[in-house]
Amino acid sequence: MVFPLEAHLRAAEYRPGSRPFMWKNFSVSQQSLGFQMPQEQVKRHSNGERSHKARHEVRVGDAYDLAETVDASTVDLLITSPPYWGLRTYGLEHNWDILAAWKKSGRSQTDPPSYDWYRRNGGILGLEPLPEWYLKHLVEILDKFARSLKPSGSMWINIGDVYFSRWASIRPEGRQGLGDTSRLRRRGPMGGFRQEKNLLLLPSRFAIHMQELRWIVRNDLIWFKPNVPPRPERDRLRLCHEHFFHLVKRPSEGRAKYYYDLSEVEAGAHDVVLCNVRSGEDGHSATFPEDIVRPRIASSSPPGGVVLDPFCGTGRALVAAARSGRQTIGFEISDRFAEVARKSIANLTLGESRCQIT
Ligand SMILES: C[S@@+](CC[C@H](N)C(=O)[O-])C[C@H]1O[C@@H](n2cnc3c(N)ncnc32)[C@H](O)[C@@H]1O
Repeated sequence: MVFPLEAHLRAAEYRPGSRPFMWKNFSVSQQSLGFQMPQEQVKRHSNGERSHKARHEVRVGDAYDLAETVDASTVDLLITSPPYWGLRTYGLEHNWDILAAWKKSGRSQTDPPSYDWYRRNGGILGLEPLPEWYLKHLVEILDKFARSLKPSGSMWINIGDVYFSRWASIRPEGRQGLGDTSRLRRRGPMGGFRQEKNLLLLPSRFAIHMQELRWIVRNDLIWFKPNVPPRPERDRLRLCHEHFFHLVKRPSEGRAKYYYDLSEVEAGAHDVVLCNVRSGEDGHSATFPEDIVRPRIASSSPPGGVVLDPFCGTGRALVAAARSGRQTIGFEISDRFAEVARKSIANLTLGESRCQIT
C-alpha cells in the first residue's frame, strides 16, 4: 500500500487549567511543503515508489506546562530564543504589582518565587521585577526539557544582555533604542549588581546556572550584529552581539557524547558569527534570522530528527528546521504568533495551497 506524501501540522490550544487539549489537525502535502522529508520516515515500496511522513506541530500555551506533554527522550535538538529580561511585553497582560504581592506573602524580593507561583499570580516570563527572578524562571523552564531530550541531544539557547536602569523602558513590541512604539516605564529595585548603567551579564549568569544543574556548556557562540540601531549613549560602545549557548546533558558517567556534524557549520567553524538582525516580521519584533539558526540545526540534529522551539514566536527556527528535513514542535504563549508559525510552515508551499484543516 502506498501512503500519501504528507506531513502533519497539528495545532493544539492550551491554557493552564483548561485541560484537556483541543486539537486541530492540519495536513500539508510533502510536495507542497517543499522540504526534504526525514530519512527514517521514507518508505520504499516494491514498485519503486516512495512515501514519507513527517510531523510538524505548533501548540499554544506556556512552555512550562507544555514541557510535560513531550515524550521522554524524543527530541534531538531544542533551539530557542526566550524572551529577554525587561524589554518587551509581546502584547501579553502582566501583573505589574507582582513584587508587592510576593512581599505581602512575607517573602524577600531577593528570594525569587517559583515560576509556577509567579505565573499563577499574573507574571509573564521576561517581565520579572528583578533579573534574579528571570534567571531562576528561565533555567527552571528549560531544565524541564532535559527529560524530553535524547541522550544524544543538544540545546542551543540564544540570549541577549541588558543594561540595568532604575527606570527601565519596556515596549509592547518594538526594538529598544528605535523609539518606534510607545513604552512603559518601570522602576526597578536597586541593590547588588542592579546598579545604574551596569551591564547585567545575564547570558553568563544563565549559563552558570545551567552548569550548576549539570548542563555542559560546549560553546558560547557570539552572534555579531553589525546593523544594530544607533544608541544615544556617549560613554560606552554599542551592544551589538548576543550569545548562543550550546548545552548538552552531563552523563552519569564518562564524557558527554552527542550528535554533531561539524561539516554543517559556517566556513572556518568559528564561535563568532556575523549575521544582520532583521527588522522584525509578522508583527513580531524579535524574529530569528534563518542564517543564524540553520547551521545550528544542521550540525546539532540528524536529518529527520525532531527539533523543538519552546518559545517559537513566528516559527523562524521551525521553518528553518522543516526546510532542512527535520520534524518540528513549537510552543508559543501567544495565539497570534502561534498562528503565524503554523501558517509559515504551511506556506512552505511551492504553488497552490494544499493545506487542509480537518
Ligand atoms: C524572543 S521571542 C522568539 C521569537 C522567535 N525566535 C521568532 O523567530 O519569531 C520569544 C517568544 O516567547 C513567547 N513566550 C513568552 N513567554 C512564553 C511562555 N511562558 N511559553 C511559551 N512562549 C512564551 C513570546 O510570545 C515570544 O513570541
